[in-house]
Amino acid sequence: MTMMGLLHSVALSTQFLLLFSSSLFTNCLSLNDSTSTHHHGCHQHENNALLSFKQSFIISKSASYNTSSYPKTVSWIPTTDCCSWDGIECNELTGHVISIDLSSSQLYGSMDANSTLFSLVHLQSLDLSDNHFNHSQIPARIGDLSQLRHLNLSQFHETTLSGEVPTQISHLSNLLSLDLRSYIDQLDYPLINRLQLKESTLRSLIQNSTRLEQLRLNFVTISSSLPHTLVNLTSLQKLSFRQCELHGEFPVGIFYFPNLTSLNLVQNQNLQGTLPASIGNLTNLAYLALEDNSFHGEIPQSLFRLENLEHLSLSYNFFEGRLALDMFLKLKMLNFLDLSGNKLSLFSQVRDVNVTILPPIQWLGLSSCNLIGEVPTWMMNQTSSYYLDLSQNNLQGEIPYFLFKLENLTLLDLAGNMFEGQIELDMLSKLQKLTILGLGGGNKLSFLEGKNTSNVTFLSQIHALDLSSCNFVHFPNFIQHLQELTSLSISNNNIKTIPSWLWNKTTLESLEISNNLLMGEISPSICNLQSLVELDLSSNNLVGMIPSCLGSFSRSLQILSLAGNKLTGDIPETYVKGNALHFIDFSSNKLHGKLPRALVNCRRLEFLDVRHNHFNDSFPFWLGYLPKIKVVILRDNEFHGAIMCPLKYAFPQLRNMDLSQNGFSMKLTSEIIMCFKSMIISNKRQLDFKDVIYSDNAEIDIDSHPFSMSNKGVVMDYLGSQYLHHMVAIDLSCNKISGEIPDIMGSLNRLVMLNLSNNMFTGSIPSSFGELSNLEVLDLSLNDLSGNIPQQLTGLTFLDFFNVSFNNLSGPIPENGQLSTFDDNSFKGNKDLCGIRLLKKCEDHPKLPLQKPDGDQDSESGSFFELYWMVILIGYGGGLVAGLALGNAFAEDVYRLLKKIF
Ligand SMILES: *[C@@H]1O[C@H](CO)[C@@H](O)[C@H](O)[C@H]1NC(C)=O
Ligand SMILES: *[C@@H]1O[C@H](CO)[C@@H](O)[C@H](O)[C@H]1NC(C)=O
Ligand SMILES: *[C@@H]1O[C@H](CO)[C@@H](O)[C@H](O)[C@H]1NC(C)=O
Ligand SMILES: *[C@@H]1O[C@H](CO)[C@@H](O)[C@H](O)[C@H]1NC(C)=O
Ligand SMILES: *[C@@H]1O[C@H](CO)[C@@H](O)[C@H](O)[C@H]1NC(C)=O
Ligand SMILES: *[C@@H]1O[C@H](CO)[C@@H](O)[C@H](O)[C@H]1NC(C)=O
Ligand SMILES: *[C@@H]1O[C@H](CO)[C@@H](O)[C@H](O)[C@H]1NC(C)=O
Ligand SMILES: *[C@@H]1O[C@H](CO)[C@@H](O)[C@H](O)[C@H]1NC(C)=O
Repeated sequence: MTMMGLLHSVALSTQFLLLFSSSLFTNCLSLNDSTSTHHHGCHQHENNALLSFKQSFIISKSASYNTSSYPKTVSWIPTTDCCSWDGIECNELTGHVISIDLSSSQLYGSMDANSTLFSLVHLQSLDLSDNHFNHSQIPARIGDLSQLRHLNLSQFHETTLSGEVPTQISHLSNLLSLDLRSYIDQLDYPLINRLQLKESTLRSLIQNSTRLEQLRLNFVTISSSLPHTLVNLTSLQKLSFRQCELHGEFPVGIFYFPNLTSLNLVQNQNLQGTLPASIGNLTNLAYLALEDNSFHGEIPQSLFRLENLEHLSLSYNFFEGRLALDMFLKLKMLNFLDLSGNKLSLFSQVRDVNVTILPPIQWLGLSSCNLIGEVPTWMMNQTSSYYLDLSQNNLQGEIPYFLFKLENLTLLDLAGNMFEGQIELDMLSKLQKLTILGLGGGNKLSFLEGKNTSNVTFLSQIHALDLSSCNFVHFPNFIQHLQELTSLSISNNNIKTIPSWLWNKTTLESLEISNNLLMGEISPSICNLQSLVELDLSSNNLVGMIPSCLGSFSRSLQILSLAGNKLTGDIPETYVKGNALHFIDFSSNKLHGKLPRALVNCRRLEFLDVRHNHFNDSFPFWLGYLPKIKVVILRDNEFHGAIMCPLKYAFPQLRNMDLSQNGFSMKLTSEIIMCFKSMIISNKRQLDFKDVIYSDNAEIDIDSHPFSMSNKGVVMDYLGSQYLHHMVAIDLSCNKISGEIPDIMGSLNRLVMLNLSNNMFTGSIPSSFGELSNLEVLDLSLNDLSGNIPQQLTGLTFLDFFNVSFNNLSGPIPENGQLSTFDDNSFKGNKDLCGIRLLKKCEDHPKLPLQKPDGDQDSESGSFFELYWMVILIGYGGGLVAGLALGNAFAEDVYRLLKKIF
């Protein structure tokens, strides 16, 4: 997870630098007639206006980000002609100031709402970019400058302008370029201080400023869909809306703008769209960045006609289809290509492409592209590459040695493939610039570090290292010498002990040692690692208590997993206010006691899993107070009492609640269902939307956390990101919950899985369940439900698992629709139910459908007796009976036994 996060932030900063340099140096104006020698001289009132504008700021070197910034206003001396001042241009004939360029001028101070600047009504160009405006607002009087053609208020340093962009900006009907970008460091995401642009203002702007050629609004919060009138701005050349919280459909008409050169829509997760074939007409297109959105469909072949394309980033969308990687080699100017994280199947098979003239690709991101076969040999000639991510594919064979000779690489990620063979530490000696190295994941490599590791100098710049699944028996020693290391994954090895020097590596932000053979107690020295963001010690043999410092030792800790060990005792009560925890997994240990109430201090918590422990507590309704909590898993503990949900504990973002195999007992009422109201959606399209969780300095996608949900009889592996991103589930199975199932449950239309089995529900199956149109799993077995199976359920087209066995249902099983795909296991144990999939056909007169054809009462009572003890030993209500009941051949016997006993 963190590896991805790190890669991501590298990506961000690199792109930012590219953006930054292009904005500073390509924004050419041709306003001054430099051949003219005539000089009119500055108007006095404009002179004064400029001077008092100058007075409203102080000069501070740190106010500008650009290293070549300098204070231009120093040359603004009252006794000289303002037209000669640095950054000022006047009209040669009228003498009016027409252009102010104070970009990167080290100005610090607030924008004055009544600034004298706004009296310079002849201004055609105003560039105040890269100064520090102390979080003030853009004054409404900006609308007075109606002659403006170019307005640049971009901020690269941080957001130094804030609040709403005034509607008056739409009065600037002569605008050709508007730049309000800011650069937001991932560390500050999500930041409240951003500029905001109301959709209505954007609409007015589009309506009035019809000649716009450049519209750049990166990191300005818009939070709406894009107005379709945008397609009226046919002169657009550069359009950028990175991280503007856009959603809805991207107007496809923009791909018809003949002069489009640059389109940046990065990170508006829920922006949807497709690439039309006509994109091949955009012969000037050089920059296309759509990463991290919800674009879908195929990548049109016409794209490969775009000979001027330099930057193509389509990563983390839903693009699909089979595609020859070699096609991209036709794009002669291409230096940035990222297709990672789509549903693409790439193959490489050089044909029709002249590999003697390769594009100068420096960034190649092909993670999760279903790339098969061997590493394409043309990569050996990409000697100027600095970023090569081939992780999470199906590449085979030995890792070709030529990759280790690409000496400009700063990132080499080969993790999660099927590579084999031996890697020796020395092989990495040419990669002097490497900062990120990934070899782990599914590969079957053996990594040999050699004897003398104390003089390892070549990996000195490494900050992220993935050596998972590399057959280590001991913790590799060379890691000790990596001074810059911030991220280490050494999971899936056979390491038994952690060397104590590891606790001195205080630069570590991510440490993953899961799936090893670690023994003994967790050393309290672990709390020296105060920069940790992620700590994963899951699936080892750790014993003892959780060190009490673990909840509070690091303000930055976001991911904590100690799952699958043998830890005992209580969870420590040490979650300080303002902690950053997003993800806590203590599952499958021997922990007991109550859930610590201090968890309410984890305001950012999204995922809490304590399944398979011995917690003995009432329902932790107070978790509903956490604004972001999405997943709560309490399965298989000793929780008891009523499930409730007082008003202010409303679980506003809940999408997965698993309370199964506990001792909850109460009537299920409509009020309780309201705990789950976040599982109601009005717009079905939201289901396709991404739900990526952003964090402060890493992008965490909890969906990639492997997690299986065993659903008696069928073990459903809801593993991996493909599926879980729309996983919305309620599991109340194996408790003592009673009463009728409230109709209102049918309104939770986002539900994908609903498991109410093995409880004491009575009454009928609500026909409103027919409204749960996304439902894939419905288990109502082992209750006391009666009446017919509602005809409405036949419309549940995605239903994949359905079980109503062992109830008191009666009447015919609906024969049409999805229900017809399930066999008798889904229905048995209901003595008055009939249908073609049961022994009992509907014409038949009711008989005992459960009775074996040659049933012998005497021999049966023998087995009944055995089973009786089995049930007593296991304990009814503990949940295991249900597992047995549906999972194996004893099912019917157990059921009959239970009916007899109770
Ligand atoms: C701006 O100046 C005008 C007239 O000079 C005055 O009426 C107004 O209150 C001032 N606004 C602010 C925000 O200072
Ligand atoms: C368009 O600009 C004019 C002034 O240039 C302004 O009066 C008008 O309100 C603007 N229209 C919109 C829709 O903003
Ligand atoms: C702008 O686009 C809308 C629809 O997209 C259209 O109805 C309108 O006439 C267009 N306006 C202009 C000025 O072209
Ligand atoms: C595109 O650019 C060309 C050349 O600069 C110009 O003549 C043409 O008007 C532009 N097209 C549009 C729709 O702005
Ligand atoms: C643009 O491309 C499409 C499909 O590639 C083509 O049918 C259409 O004629 C092209 N339009 C122009 C204006 O070139
Ligand atoms: C490939 O390109 C090179 C260099 O431009 C050229 O000499 C060669 O003939 C080309 N080969 C083919 C098969 O087109
Ligand atoms: C690719 O690199 C190899 C090894 O350095 C070299 O022999 C070959 O000529 C190169 N091919 C091209 C097309 O540059
Ligand atoms: C590696 O990078 C350096 C510095 O950017 C550059 O001068 C050199 O040409 C690059 N090497 C190759 C093989 O491209």
